[in-house]
Amino acid sequence: MDQHDLGDAATRHTPVLLQRCLDLLAPALAADGSVMVDSTLGMGGHTEGVLRAFPHVRVVGIDRDPQALALAGRRLAPFGDRFTGVHAVYDEIGEVLDGLGIDHVQGVLMDLGVSSLQLDERERGFSYAHDAPLDMRMDASRGQTAADVVNGYDERDLARVLRVYGEERFAARIARSVVRAREKAPLTRTGELVDLVRASIPAATRKTGGHPAKRTFQALRIEVNGELEVLERALPASVEALAVGGRIVVEAYHSLEDRLVKRTLAAGATSSAPPDLPVEPETHAPYLRLVTRGAEEADEAELARNPRAQSVRLRAAERIRPTPDHLRGPQPGRRAA
Ligand SMILES: C[S@@+](CC[C@H](N)C(=O)[O-])C[C@H]1O[C@@H](n2cnc3c(N)ncnc32)[C@H](O)[C@@H]1O
Repeated sequence: MDQHDLGDAATRHTPVLLQRCLDLLAPALAADGSVMVDSTLGMGGHTEGVLRAFPHVRVVGIDRDPQALALAGRRLAPFGDRFTGVHAVYDEIGEVLDGLGIDHVQGVLMDLGVSSLQLDERERGFSYAHDAPLDMRMDASRGQTAADVVNGYDERDLARVLRVYGEERFAARIARSVVRAREKAPLTRTGELVDLVRASIPAATRKTGGHPAKRTFQALRIEVNGELEVLERALPASVEALAVGGRIVVEAYHSLEDRLVKRTLAAGATSSAPPDLPVEPETHAPYLRLVTRGAEEADEAELARNPRAQSVRLRAAERIRPTPDHLRGPQPGRRAA
């Protein structure tokens, strides 16, 4: 954190679609005593917006990155006990709320992916623009690193990660070069990986489509942090955390993330009754109502202010009744909304 002061970090990151998030959450957060979970606290930009816009609301901010929590905690200190920061992975939302003695919440906000703080902290290895150790863990205290993935996965698995999570056309070629290079010595630096990727991509394609290592870095980051597996568990757990009338707003930046969001929200907004039943039993009625039509994207004005909004897909839904028992997975310790 020594490279940055707080003011710098707070202004460096403009929260994506902040006003739209506030508008979507407003009906759910209208009552006194409302609680919102910001599952991706980051530098606290969205949370600060919520705390300012809704002076009676309390926010529980979750992040798996201890640095982000420390920074956001300092930024949000003026709000006193209206803000509580918790170090956790966001699929632990149920346990986090249990630990705070909170039954259900009126809002959940998820702004997925990495923060500009993480990209800017050169030593963490998220950025292809700076040579650094191959790490890429959002929580640097545990779990596998990018070096473990590039040196430990077999060629096929490596190619699959690059192709699926990075949508990298040259995944097989890059994986082959990585395997050849590591036979001589394990890869340890992001710079070595960038050079290998660059050399694996045909010269003609190198000129188009942004930095040649962008997709490889994205793919490794998703794999290192288990981002899709965690999100797949976190979405239903977040819906379960919502009280009736509560709303969930999710901003995704990757098509696979957005697909999971779309699927979870659509499942809740669809009747689970068999199609041949003449009358829909109450127990099979939808428990969510979609409050965005499809995925919303950033408009020109937002894009001009905030380049990070480029690939955002925002979806939101409101809980309209408890999840029927036959659709509830095991939720240790949690009661129905
Ligand atoms: C895009 S940033 C959020 C920025 C924030 N909305 C703001 O306005 O400052 C995403 C944050 O979510 C955190 N994060 C990503 N995946 C997570 C997970 N599975 N559990 C908890 N935090 C996660 C990252 O560490 C990062 O700080």
